[in-house]
Amino acid sequence: MADFRYENKTVIITGGSRGIGKGCAQEFVRAGAKVVLCSNDRAEGDRTCADLKALALRQGAGDASFVYCDVRKTEEIENLIQTAYSRHQKIDCLINNAGWHPPHKPIDDFSIEEFRDLIDLNLISVFAACKFALPYLRQVRGNIINIASLVAAMGQLHATTYVATKGAVAAFTKALAIDEAANGVRVNSVSPGNIYTPLWQEAIDAAADPAQCRADGEAAQVMGRMGTIEEVGRLCLFIAAEATFTTGVDHRISGGAELGYGRKSRT
Ligand SMILES: NC(=O)c1ccc[n+]([C@@H]2O[C@H](COP(=O)([O-])OP(=O)(O)OC[C@H]3O[C@@H](n4cnc5c(N)ncnc54)[C@H](O)[C@@H]3O)[C@@H](O)[C@H]2O)c1
Repeated sequence: MADFRYENKTVIITGGSRGIGKGCAQEFVRAGAKVVLCSNDRAEGDRTCADLKALALRQGAGDASFVYCDVRKTEEIENLIQTAYSRHQKIDCLINNAGWHPPHKPIDDFSIEEFRDLIDLNLISVFAACKFALPYLRQVRGNIINIASLVAAMGQLHATTYVATKGAVAAFTKALAIDEAANGVRVNSVSPGNIYTPLWQEAIDAAADPAQCRADGEAAQVMGRMGTIEEVGRLCLFIAAEATFTTGVDHRISGGAELGYGRKSRT
């Protein structure tokens, strides 16, 4: 039975051409939403969009369109929001997902410039998209979902820059939730643990022992596997469609990676 529980809602998803963003786009289109996805990869964005349009046509509900946008460029984010609004005359939900995890290394090997660039990509882009979308979200009492990370709460080996950006996303989400409650806009974050995506596959491919890297990634969860992009998409859809008394909350989706004691010291 079709479940169009987000029918005719407009949803903007940054970094929607692959990985978690694509999982969100699929689940929202399945729920009947009109998804506007962006990415800095035009070919991949067009491909994903064509698949989603075909899905919408098959089920007779939902829609998808693609806007090229490099979220490091403020004017391109502004264009994304305005284009989505002109296409659908409203914006119900914004999912800030685009982001990157640089290869692991100690602080000594990260330059200040690398850190600044990552802040632009993972954090300033989120602030800018919220700022430009909020005037429209307030009109319909919509909601924002910012993709943070489990490591924002746990820390991670040789990932100081990434963890700092994701911690900031989670903290920013709570502050914005306070401000926007008066306007009826809910603001939540989602913190995934290990989700199998092209970004994760790149890390596997770059590892000295790829099979071991994948096995370690799977074994980091008490559930013994990585999460799927569809599972993250379904959590985001629940937050947008059903969790109407929930704001300022960081929603973990981690397969229990943070549970229990384990061997942590390397000595
Ligand atoms: N995969 C995981 O295990 C995991 C865990 C925690 C958090 N996250 C976060 O989830 C988000 C998505 O991760 P993923 O694993 O799906 O990554 P991914 O690399 O597979 O996909 C990233 C998406 O973002 C887009 N993107 C990247 N840079 C961009 C830019 N400058 N402008 C516009 N779009 C851009 C890419 O085109 C792609 O569509 C990221 O914010 C990541 O930090 C991922």
